[in-house]
Amino acid sequence: MAVLNILRYPDPRLHRVARPVESFDDRLRALVSDLAETMYQAPGVGLAATQVDVHERVIVIDVSDARDQLQVFVNPQIIESSDDRKVYEEGCLSVPGIYEEVERPDRVKVRACDASGATFEIDADGLLAVCLQHEIDHLDGRVFVQYLSRLKQGRIRAKMLKVEREPA
Ligand code: NI
Repeated sequence: MAVLNILRYPDPRLHRVARPVESFDDRLRALVSDLAETMYQAPGVGLAATQVDVHERVIVIDVSDARDQLQVFVNPQIIESSDDRKVYEEGCLSVPGIYEEVERPDRVKVRACDASGATFEIDADGLLAVCLQHEIDHLDGRVFVQYLSRLKQGRIRAKMLKVEREPA
């Protein structure tokens, strides 16, 4: 297990589209375990492989208060979205310190595989629905700030670049 380095917006690698996982092997299980460790250590409620510069369709999520309910989604697909939409304040480990309101479908049905390749479906609402959509966006090379106005995106980009230049 290892804690991996998380790419920071506006790193162009965050905009690569991830490829589907084809082999459900030990390498995949090691990636899942590293992603989980990285997410818990950050700490965050979700992490996509794209964020650690691995461009494969794998995400990990834990929205539980006790932080003991890891959910793994390999090759996740949104197969249904509600017409109802909801505004939620989102943040992202790749855009630290930035929290902005984003409107998305309130409920989604997602089909995915687990780490052993078994297909499952899940109906999600609330934070889990937000998180699934946010993380699947990462796999498609999309960061949540791209839903904001150009003006806000510019401000966030400038702020992130400034933080990057300052010594920690
Ligand atoms: Ni994110």
